[in-house]
Amino acid sequence: MRILITGGAGFIGSHLAETCLERGDEVYIIDDLSTGTLDNIDHLKADNYKDKLFVTIDTVLNTDKMTELVGICDVVYHLAAAVGVQYIIDNPLTSIITNVGGTECVLQMCDKFKKKVLIASTSEVYGKHDHAPLVETDDSVYGPSIKSRWSYAASKLIDEFTALAYHKTKKLDLRIVRLFNTVGPRQTERYGMVLPRFVTQALKNDPITVYGDGKQTRTFTHVKNVIQGLLKLMESPQANGEVVNIGGVEEVSIFALAEKIKEKIGSSSEIKLIPYDVAYPKEFEDMQRRVPSTKKLASLIGEVPTLTLDEIIRDVISYYKSLS
Ligand SMILES: NC(=O)c1ccc[n+]([C@@H]2O[C@H](COP(=O)([O-])OP(=O)(O)OC[C@H]3O[C@@H](n4cnc5c(N)ncnc54)[C@H](O)[C@@H]3O)[C@@H](O)[C@H]2O)c1
Repeated sequence: MRILITGGAGFIGSHLAETCLERGDEVYIIDDLSTGTLDNIDHLKADNYKDKLFVTIDTVLNTDKMTELVGICDVVYHLAAAVGVQYIIDNPLTSIITNVGGTECVLQMCDKFKKKVLIASTSEVYGKHDHAPLVETDDSVYGPSIKSRWSYAASKLIDEFTALAYHKTKKLDLRIVRLFNTVGPRQTERYGMVLPRFVTQALKNDPITVYGDGKQTRTFTHVKNVIQGLLKLMESPQANGEVVNIGGVEEVSIFALAEKIKEKIGSSSEIKLIPYDVAYPKEFEDMQRRVPSTKKLASLIGEVPTLTLDEIIRDVISYYKSLS
């Protein structure tokens, strides 16, 4: 099968590319390297996949290039996006253009060539809830548009609306996947992702910087489990036209996460609380909890993420150790 992965030089995209190559697919990647890097996929070229991996450095907003790539591929995983709270705050306009315009371009091309597509969305679309678990039919609750942090959630929500409209009006075969904090080897700490940031700080014995009071909780999902979920949802006819959570359910406070990482590394780092208005622009808002319901995922593919937080942390630590 010929697979197109937008954002394939990114963290999740590179793992998806690797798994598809391992099972014998031809993989086409388009990535503008804004947050991704060729370092994530260089080893694949070396691993005898050089005749099966085709990389285009370009933007998904380039309709000519997208026409060519969607035209030759059988299915499309649309992962390209402006990602990460810090990146969105620093690049508010590019983020909206990429996330809204890029997804529209992908959907248009998939409709033109009648190609099956998976759209990566995010748990951020739920917004400011503090109940758990979050079910796919829950409301989206956001702050005002002057708080640019919400633009990521809102742009991904527009992607979902647009995709569902394509499904309804054009019968486009698609699935929308809401990913909860996905972590694992190759995730960069540069754009504000909490777990790799804590690991790099702890390895250097620098202060581990916890934003807010650290009582906010999150769940984490190993990228391996996410990839299996994406592949199975793509293959599931019942997932056509559906919005589905993929996420782990082991809830941990951010402070406890910092303590766990410090202990596992044997680090001498102090854990330092940084008020939100120091870490982010004034009036930053955060969610207190973000735990997925995985019932729908289980009913569609018969499995849910299995790797534990300890296993996830262990893999991230050994990845960062291998870099030094
Ligand atoms: N990692 C997570 O915890 C998480 C959580 C929720 C949702 N997601 C979603 O999963 C997808 C992949 O995220 P990731 O964590 O791998 O991040 P990432 O930043 O590593 O990957 C995104 C990739 O898209 C590329 N890209 C950005 N704009 C582009 C454009 N205009 N044209 C072509 N390529 C472009 C980047 O260079 C990067 O390689 C995104 O859609 C993101 O919103 C991720």
